[in-house]
Amino acid sequence: MTSASAPGKIILFGEHAVVYGRPALAVPVTQVQARAEVRNAPDGQTWIEAPDIALRSPLAALAADHPLAAALRSGFAALDLPAPPAVTVRVTSSIPVASGLGSGAAVTVAILRAVSAHLGRLLDDEQINALAFEIEKIHHGTPSGIDNTVVTYARPVYFIKGQPIERLQVGKPFTLVIADTGISAPTREVVGEVRKLWQADQARWEAVFDRIETLGLQARIAIEFGNLPALGPLMDANHALLQELTVSNPELDRLVDAARRSGAQGAKLSGGGRGGNMIALTEAGQAEAIRKALLAAGARKAIVTTIS
Ligand code: PMV
Repeated sequence: MTSASAPGKIILFGEHAVVYGRPALAVPVTQVQARAEVRNAPDGQTWIEAPDIALRSPLAALAADHPLAAALRSGFAALDLPAPPAVTVRVTSSIPVASGLGSGAAVTVAILRAVSAHLGRLLDDEQINALAFEIEKIHHGTPSGIDNTVVTYARPVYFIKGQPIERLQVGKPFTLVIADTGISAPTREVVGEVRKLWQADQARWEAVFDRIETLGLQARIAIEFGNLPALGPLMDANHALLQELTVSNPELDRLVDAARRSGAQGAKLSGGGRGGNMIALTEAGQAEAIRKALLAAGARKAIVTTIS
């Protein structure tokens, strides 16, 4: 048996604007992971198992746009195999689905790594990242590529679509509470709705994306120099712009308010929005109190993570 795993991720700044060429800052979240295990299959077929979604199927029976099947097929194609190998690929994940934690990308990356390792033909990170980007199109429609990039390289990134990956240096570790609204909101749909807004009034939304870009640039400096007091207000300002972009919702706003009232230095939604997760910046010593306040305010789940 060969296994591989990949972390979740969270966007700190710049979601949605990143689809329109602005920078975004994102970090891996290693408390949650996707994992793929590959075993030889005695019956000569290729199987996919994903107990979390009650799936056990021969690969051949899954549609071309099934994300797990597509990930596996793209791995086989990249490895130039004459025929699909006789293996069972079992996928599990502790990353909540459709909640802005990059579960789709993590599952893809874990599958590609495990399969290539099992077949003794390692794909490098650049190849994995490029393949995972193609699969992200099934999940997201027109993805920026940020999810697959952070998940593949498992390190903080300053990301601009189509440009070489820049590493985000973290000058001083900081603590985030990540809380899940429990509402699943497919990124693809939210990205599509933002696209419609943008098509109807490009000048207005380009100006909003410009303001988000400025916040991202300031945040990068604050993170790299360890100027954490500057970071909270930048998160608050980014959340306000995401509200203007209509991608927040009452549940996210409630959690963001609860975090601020319980002492967070700043808070915002993270990822596609309309559900999924929010993040709150906190002093390490206050993280647990904020986590509890978020659960009391209705969060389905809340975890504390340190970014370093
Ligand atoms: O965190 P997620 O998986 O919901 O990613 C959404 C990020 C967007 O900027 C909204 C879309 C993208 O492809 O970058």
